[in-house]
Order: sequence, then structure tokens, then C-alpha cells
Amino acid sequence: MASKKVLVIHGPNLNMLGKREPEVYGTTGLDDINNGLIELGKKLGLNVDTFQSNHEGAIVDKIQEASQKHKGLIINPGAYSHTSIAILDALLILKVPVIEVHLSNIYKREPFRHKSMISGVATATLGGFGHSGYYMALEAIARMVK
Ligand code: DQA
Repeated sequence: MASKKVLVIHGPNLNMLGKREPEVYGTTGLDDINNGLIELGKKLGLNVDTFQSNHEGAIVDKIQEASQKHKGLIINPGAYSHTSIAILDALLILKVPVIEVHLSNIYKREPFRHKSMISGVATATLGGFGHSGYYMALEAIARMVK
């Protein structure tokens, strides 16, 4: 049987992981995280696609594509978490589990980070686990789509 496809979307500035505020976001780069997710996916019987963009519209386009192809979505919308009604609306189209991931615990940080536009539509939200949060999310999706 073909593996189920899961999409992982990383929002703005997450391409700078490893270099960007390592005291907040850790020293692991995005390629290492994505490769780790692809490898874990193989063990879980999931085919993991990854995507990063600094552009809101490109993220909306990708979410719309996921509604055709993917059985689950993991998304860290970065700063768009706090502002983007367009990403929220795109997520409302999806009929598959959506897990929102943040590397940092947004509730421990500046007040403007406390509100996520997408938490109310995500199946679940994870934050504060650093890059481990992505792997936890993938394991959770594997259970949800079995
Ligand atoms: C983030 C938290 C956001 O507030 C911030 O803008 C990011 C990363 C996180 O993973 O902790 O870019 O989503």
C-alpha cells in the first residue's frame, strides 16, 4: 500500500533556524529537521513533504494543494501565526488533521505572541519543545491517520 502523505509547512524566517536567535529557537538547522522528519516518516509509514516560505500567499497556495493530496498537515506559521486570517481561512478548507507547532513556548514570550490565529482551528497545538515538537507532531499524525 502506498504511504500516506503528510505535509510540513514552515513559515517566515524558519529557513534561518540554527542562525536565528539560537537561544530561543535552538541550533538545529531546517534541513536537519526536515531530513529527520522524512526519516521518521519512513518508520511510521508516512511520506513526508516539506515546504518553507517567507510569503503568506505561497503558504496559502500550499495549504490549498494539501487539501487535494495530503492526509495530515503540520504547520509552524512563524510570525504569521499571530496575524494571518488568510492562513486561518485556508486551514478551514482542510478536512485532515492539522497540528500547529512552535519551537518556543509562545505564552512565555511577548504578549503579541500569545494569540495564535490558527490555534482555534488546529486539531492540536504543540509549543516549547524545540525541534522535538515536530517529531512529536508527526508521531501524533501517524496515530490519527491510521
Ligand atoms: C515561532 C514563534 C513565533 O512567534 C515567531 O514569530 C516565529 C517562530 C516558534 O516556532 O516558536 O517565527 O512560531
